[in-house]
Amino acid sequence: MEKILVKIDNQKVLKQIEDYGIVPVVKIENVKDAVPLAKALIDGGLNVAEITFRTDCATDVIKEITKKYPDMLVGAGTVNSVEQVKQAMDAGAKYIVCPALIDDVVEYCLQHNILVIPGCTTASDVQKAVSYGLTNLKFFPAESSGGIQTIRALSSVYEGVRFMPTGGIDLDNISEYVNDPNVIACGGSWMVNPELINAGEFDEIRKLTRDSIFKILNFDFAHFGINCDTEEEGYKNIFKLADMFDLILGDTESSTYVGKDVEITKQPFKVRGPHGHIGYHTDNLKRSIFYLSNAGVEFNMEHIKYHGDKMFVIYLKDYLAGFAIHIEERNDHNPSSWDHRDDIKSLIGWNN
Ligand code: 3PG
Repeated sequence: MEKILVKIDNQKVLKQIEDYGIVPVVKIENVKDAVPLAKALIDGGLNVAEITFRTDCATDVIKEITKKYPDMLVGAGTVNSVEQVKQAMDAGAKYIVCPALIDDVVEYCLQHNILVIPGCTTASDVQKAVSYGLTNLKFFPAESSGGIQTIRALSSVYEGVRFMPTGGIDLDNISEYVNDPNVIACGGSWMVNPELINAGEFDEIRKLTRDSIFKILNFDFAHFGINCDTEEEGYKNIFKLADMFDLILGDTESSTYVGKDVEITKQPFKVRGPHGHIGYHTDNLKRSIFYLSNAGVEFNMEHIKYHGDKMFVIYLKDYLAGFAIHIEERNDHNPSSWDHRDDIKSLIGWNN
């Protein structure tokens, strides 16, 4: 019977990899572990996995997972022959990852419009990949090849080339890589250690997966926002707090921060809930929206703040006990400077 070929949108696959920011690199020894492993990753928040051809059952593992979870983004890793590319794609893989730049594998994938991400760690590797028209590359083994510094050095020469670092990445060092503009996503086995899989520790895998996501989003409290109806009322409250606790102030167009934790708005603003708002920081706003939306959180898409074309603040659609909630990407724009309160007082002509 002739095989029905399903056309894969490679750009969509790349975007998905980037949205997740983390790709679990999986080595499975027993096919029976395939579905529980995939379920643990999905329950932890990652609907993506790279199944490596480091065991004989890789093809069957890909088949089992894609049959049970057709929406899961399954790639094939450690692919080093054309034969393995064919097996992986027939089994349902959506893309191919190689540890190195292997000519016949790359050529076959390009001829068949298969997304291939070959391993490159030197300028010579990257040069060759670029001559094939490839700009999305694996950087392996990342830590022992100079880590993010090498990625930045290569990217400064090869504009437009981006990397998926793997090899030696874990919860302790992923933050160094994952939000760099030259990095598509980080791959690794830290949450899918073969010992955990063989021991059936799927709940631990789910937990490590969830921890990894929160590690890259890196949420924490940013500030508490108090609404004031007029600029005068705003400043009265600002100086009361600042005088009482000897706090520094940071002024922006619409509000003033008092000691960095409290923001006092100087005019009413309808998205800032009836009682005020609570702001949280994240390392990556786009990914936070992606993951929280997957978890059912809804956003107010009409009040997004930008710096240039980079989004940096978004509000949730619902209030919590009368407070609006917003998420803000860590940045150094807001406020632009912090001053002693007397400087700001004289700046605005405040005499009382
Ligand atoms: C890979 O093939 O990408 C790496 O072996 C994964 O590296 P790690 O096991 O050090 O995470």
